[in-house]
Amino acid sequence: MKPSFFARKTIEDVQAGPAESHTFPRSLGPWSLTALGVGAIIGAGIFVLTGAAAARYAGPAVILSFALAGVACAIVALCYAELAALIPVSGSTYSYVYIALGEIFAWIIGWDLALEYAMGAATVAVGWSGYLVSLLANLGLHLPERFTSPLGPGLFNAPAALIVLAITALLAQGTRESARVNNVMVGFKLAVVLVVIVAGALHVVPANWTPFLPDNTGEFGHFGWSGVLRGAAVVFFAYIGFDAVSTAAQEAHEPQRTVPLGLLASLAVCTALYIGVSAVLTGVVPFALLDRPDPISAVIDAIGLPWLAIVVKFAALAGLTTVILVLLFGQARILFAMANDGLLPGFFARISPRFRTPASSQALVGLVVAALAGLLPIDILGEMVSIGTLAAFALVCMAVMYLRRRHPETPRPFRVPGSPVIPALGVLACLGLMAGLPWETWTRLFVWLGVGMVIYFGYGQRHARRSGT
Ligand code: ALA
Repeated sequence: MKPSFFARKTIEDVQAGPAESHTFPRSLGPWSLTALGVGAIIGAGIFVLTGAAAARYAGPAVILSFALAGVACAIVALCYAELAALIPVSGSTYSYVYIALGEIFAWIIGWDLALEYAMGAATVAVGWSGYLVSLLANLGLHLPERFTSPLGPGLFNAPAALIVLAITALLAQGTRESARVNNVMVGFKLAVVLVVIVAGALHVVPANWTPFLPDNTGEFGHFGWSGVLRGAAVVFFAYIGFDAVSTAAQEAHEPQRTVPLGLLASLAVCTALYIGVSAVLTGVVPFALLDRPDPISAVIDAIGLPWLAIVVKFAALAGLTTVILVLLFGQARILFAMANDGLLPGFFARISPRFRTPASSQALVGLVVAALAGLLPIDILGEMVSIGTLAAFALVCMAVMYLRRRHPETPRPFRVPGSPVIPALGVLACLGLMAGLPWETWTRLFVWLGVGMVIYFGYGQRHARRSGT
């Protein structure tokens, strides 16, 4: 007999789900789904991490890093599209993996998703703080560095922690994320990003792109082709969030058609914008000067449009706020799904009768994320998020291959073309990007997974609610 930790759910089990999951109104069409994806995708990656990726790892070839990460994400998005059309439930990745690979892998992916969502929210909050400090400085207000920097150079990044707590308070009280508000925010973000691309394009100094691929310094990952790879692994963060489209499957009209469309369209739009922004950044400002928390401001300063600097900072703050909100919200939903399956204590599945949200779990998530955002520097956080998400994405590609073999007969409204070669390439691309990350990040990933295993065997494995139990 197989050990219980390999127990799988059936597609029917997951579709039946908790009763709560049947109550969503189907209010999202393909446009709203695409806007949801773009809203969750565009954030700290482009507004913050691009600068460090160019200055430290890839130089102007960070443009290639964006293209490479975009291709990897396109393959993963195709895999998500197949699974979301096959199993249109809001548990998303965690639920797919429970069906395809069994309980222990579902736990790993759920635990891993905390890196994507909780640490992602912390990272974006640090980016938010960078833009706030910079905006206030424009207005003549200088916050003391001790309270705007992580432990080490400073004491505590207070704005980063405070924005997390403020959004948490909002979420705990019941956030009705209306597609309309999201569409407006996305419209603002997109308009400002387009203005930056156009205004920047007029001020490009082609000499800044030479050498396009600076020579490797002799150390893996520092310029040259290995730098492009490491750059891709770092800017991969900028693409994270397209999977949020699949979590909206139960709220979508005709999810079998619109979710794949929303996933792929939002990714295509963002890839094009990212390549444009990275070309402008490195074309206007020498890449070595981009290592700052608000690299787009460097471009605006260089082209000398002070009014645009303020608008960009407002757009960045608004954009980063939505990303934090979606990630914190998503984190509480994932913990909720895991607790419903008995893999986590019931605390995480408790819905506040007053607010109709998982308020206590949301508050705990907020406190932990606020502490992380206050204490840790953005590059460590960002790389943890990337490695964790890449591991989860690799599992999603594997789930597609497994389900094709195990359930070939189940109708698939959307199919990844060229399976199993394309999903296998997805796995390889994710592993390849992971290989580009520093060994310290790998060590932290293993420590994280080790802690996860201790919790699983200490708690989840004993309390899991399995089919027929
Ligand atoms: N992709 C999101 C961002 O860049 C997480 O902020």
